[in-house]
Amino acid sequence: MALKPLALFVKHDGRSARASITCRYKCGDACSHPVPNTSSGEYFGDIVAAAMTRRGMLKGSAVAVLAVGAGGVLAACDSKPVAGPSEWKVDDAPVGTRFTPIDPNTEDAVVIPEGYEQAVVIRWGDPIFPDAPAFDFDDQTPQAQERQFGFNNDFAGLLPIDGQPNTYLLVVNHEYTTDEFMFKNYDADNPTLTQFQVGVTAHGLSVVQVRGETGSGRLTPEFGPFNRRITANSEFVVAGPAAGSDFLKTTADPSGTRVVGTFNNCSGGVTPWGTVLSGEENFNNYFGNYDAVADETAKARLKRYGFKGAASERKWERFDRRFDLAQEPNEANRFGYVVEVNPWDPTSTPIKHTALGRVKHEAATIYVTGDGTVVAYTGDDEKFDYMYKFVSSRKIQPGPGQASMLYNQTILDAGTLYVAKLSDGTGEWIPILRTGDDGRGESLVAGMTADEVAVFTRLAGDKVGATKMDRPEDFEPNPKTGKVYVALTNNDARGEDGKPGVDEANPRVANKNGQVLEIDDDHAGTSFTWSLLLVCGDPAAADTYFGGFDKTKVSPISCPDNLAFDDYGNLWISTDGSALNANDGLFSVVLEGPNRGETRQFLSVPNGAETCGPTVSEGRVTVCVQHPGELDDASADNPLSHWPDGGDSQPRPSVVSVWKSGGGRIGL
Ligand code: FEO
Ligand code: CA
Ligand code: CA
Repeated sequence: MALKPLALFVKHDGRSARASITCRYKCGDACSHPVPNTSSGEYFGDIVAAAMTRRGMLKGSAVAVLAVGAGGVLAACDSKPVAGPSEWKVDDAPVGTRFTPIDPNTEDAVVIPEGYEQAVVIRWGDPIFPDAPAFDFDDQTPQAQERQFGFNNDFAGLLPIDGQPNTYLLVVNHEYTTDEFMFKNYDADNPTLTQFQVGVTAHGLSVVQVRGETGSGRLTPEFGPFNRRITANSEFVVAGPAAGSDFLKTTADPSGTRVVGTFNNCSGGVTPWGTVLSGEENFNNYFGNYDAVADETAKARLKRYGFKGAASERKWERFDRRFDLAQEPNEANRFGYVVEVNPWDPTSTPIKHTALGRVKHEAATIYVTGDGTVVAYTGDDEKFDYMYKFVSSRKIQPGPGQASMLYNQTILDAGTLYVAKLSDGTGEWIPILRTGDDGRGESLVAGMTADEVAVFTRLAGDKVGATKMDRPEDFEPNPKTGKVYVALTNNDARGEDGKPGVDEANPRVANKNGQVLEIDDDHAGTSFTWSLLLVCGDPAAADTYFGGFDKTKVSPISCPDNLAFDDYGNLWISTDGSALNANDGLFSVVLEGPNRGETRQFLSVPNGAETCGPTVSEGRVTVCVQHPGELDDASADNPLSHWPDGGDSQPRPSVVSVWKSGGGRIGL
C-alpha cells in the first residue's frame, strides 16, 4: 500500500542553534562532519510504515505524535523567540511546579521566576585552595588554573557532608575549553605553550566544599579539606576487561593500566555509595594526525569514533606526544570511558571503568534493584548512536566505612553490558560483554574479542543491530517510580540521503528539537517497554507532543540534554542549543497524573550559554551555566556577553543557585 506522507515527516531546514564555535571546540564539529555510524542495521522506513498501519494498537506514543495532525507552523522560521502562553495559572499546577514560568528570551542574564532569587556559587578561575591566586584573565598560568575552578562547567553533583548541616561537596565536570574566549589575541593556528598548559589544567573536575545559608538557597565556596582539582594531567587507573589490553598500551604506559588525564567530561551521576561518575564524551577532538595513522584497521576504528584530519582544533599534539596519533595511536583508546571519582578522599586515584564500554558517554546514572544489583544507564551522544546499560553481578554493600566504599567502587567492574534495540513500544537489551569477578571479559558478539567489545564498543553495537538514536544524552532513572528517561537532543541528519529515516522513537527527519523517551525497564533483565514523553519544539507545530497535555499551556522547549528529578517525582530538563530563537533553559515536566506532560520554564541562561548539570532540591535549584557568550562573532577580544560580572567584563562559566525569596520550597 502506498503511504501518504504526514506533516510529521516533512523535512525542515536548520538545526539546533548552537554556535558553530561551540561545535568546533565542544564536539569537534560533529554536526557538520560525516556521521561516524555508517553501519547497516535495521532501518526504519518499514517500521514506520508498520506503525502507521497499526497505529491504534501501538504503545509507543509516536502514535500520539502521528495523531496531532498537520498544519502547525514552525514559528522558529522568524527570529523572535517562540512564545509560550501569555498567562499562567500557578496554584493548580502540581506540587513542585507551582511557579510562574519565565518567557523565552535572549537576555544576557540568568532569568528566573518572579518571587525567586539567585546568586553565582562559583566562577571559572575562582580559587579553591588558600594558596591559589585570584583570577587574572590577562595573566593565566597552569599553576594558577590547577588551584582554581576549571572552565565550562557541565555536570554538578551536590553531596551533603555528614555531620555538617547545609554543607556540601560540589563536584563539577569541566567539559571543554574554548581558547578564543579564554585568551585575548588567541591565534588558533599557533597556540602558545602556556595556552596549551592552561587548557589542559582547565579541563577535568573540581571538588569544592560549599556552605548553605539559613533562609536562602545561597551557596558559598569554602577551602574545605576535600577540595580537589582533577585535570587532563591527573593519573587514572584502568579497571575492567580492557585493563592491560594491548589496545591501551603506550610508550609511557606499557602496562595499559595507568592513564594520564580525563577530558570532555560532559554529564555524570552521583552513586548511592557517594562517589561521582563522569562521562568522557567527545574525546576524539583532542588528538591530532589521524591522517598519519598507518594501520588501516586502527584507522577504521578511530573513524567510527569521529576521528579525522591532521591538526586538532587545540593543537595539543604539538606540545605532548600523547595527543599525536602518529606517535601514539593507542592513546585515543584510553579515553571514552565512564570514570569514577571518590570525592571524599582527595588522594584517591580515579578509575576508568572499561566494563561499561568505550563510547562518547554523556553520563552514567545508577538504579539499584531490590537485591542490591546495580544498573548503570549510559547514552552515546552522537547522531545515530546507541543506548547502553550495565548490570552488575556484585551487590551494593550498604553502610558507611572504608571497606564498603572500596568494594562499591568495584561494582562497575563485574557484570554485563547491554545495548538497546527498540521496536514498536517494546525493546530488548542485547548483551554484548560479560565481565567476570576476575575482571576477565567474555565477548557476546560473534567475531569480536572481549577486548574489542570493551574498547571498540560502537562496533559491537553495529554488529548486533542496535537502534540508531537521535543523540542519546542524559539517561536517568526516576527515584520515585523507577521509570527511566532519556533525552534525545536532536539529529539534523535523520532522513538525509543515505542515512537512516524515522522510526517510532526517533519520529522526525531533520530533527532539530529532540525528544524525551520514557522507559519502563526490567532493570536487571533484558526487556522493556517505552513511549515518547515529549517531542520537543514549538508547541504550536504539528510535530510536537507534550505527553498528551494541552499544548497551548506549555513552555516551548528544544534540545533536551540533562535530566534531574525533584523530591515529588517531577522531571527537570536542561537544554543545549534551543532551535526556537531563545536562550537555553531549565524546565519542569510533570510525569504522573492528569497534568502529565505539563512543561514549564523555570529559568533561562545568558545568550550563547547552555544550561547544564541541574540539581533540584526542596529549597534550591542549581545549574551550571556553560559557555556564556559563546557566539560566532564573539571572542575574548570582542566579548558579547558580560555575564556574570557585568560592565565590560569577560563572560565566565559559572554555577548558579536559585531559591525562593524568603526561603521556602521550590515550586510550592
Ligand atoms: Fe556534552 Fe552530550 O553533551
Ligand atoms: Ca550534555
Ligand atoms: Ca550538551
